Amino acid sequence: MDYSHPQIISLPKIHDPRGNLTFVEEGSIVPFEIRRAYWIYDVPAAEERGGHSHHEMSQLLVAVGGSFNVNVCDGIHWRTFTLNRPFEGLFIPPGFWRTLDNFSSGAVCLSLVSTHYEEADYIRDFEEFKRLAMIHPRYLDV
Ligand code: TYD
Repeated sequence: MDYSHPQIISLPKIHDPRGNLTFVEEGSIVPFEIRRAYWIYDVPAAEERGGHSHHEMSQLLVAVGGSFNVNVCDGIHWRTFTLNRPFEGLFIPPGFWRTLDNFSSGAVCLSLVSTHYEEADYIRDFEEFKRLAMIHPRYLDV
């Protein structure tokens, strides 16, 4: 697999009449060591989250409830992923700008990431991001 670009990763799904179950495990499925998890919830319908890129951090986003859009940019092109299945994750490697919007009522965005929280890893200025993307080009699709 080529994990140099954002992509949907199918997660295991244990079908069960009592309710389905999905899991992730370090060493398989998720292409990085999971160091931190956080989740975003109670997002008003018109609000946007994200709005940054990362120098080092890799991430897997899962709509464990509801739905939302993740808009990913490589510095030139944008691509929108709609997340609405608890058995799919959007993998985003470092170097891609992302915004999250269009949250449904009750949506929960689980985020599994490769680093501890460190503000220095963030690029929060879009012009700075585009400048860096020209120096180190990354591509949405390969
Ligand atoms: P941020 O990553 O900008 O949120 P978004 O999910 O919209 O991209 O984080 C928002 C605030 O929360 C910011 O002040 C940093 C803080 N924060 C932590 O303290 N620890 C964390 O693990 C995360 C993800 C954020």
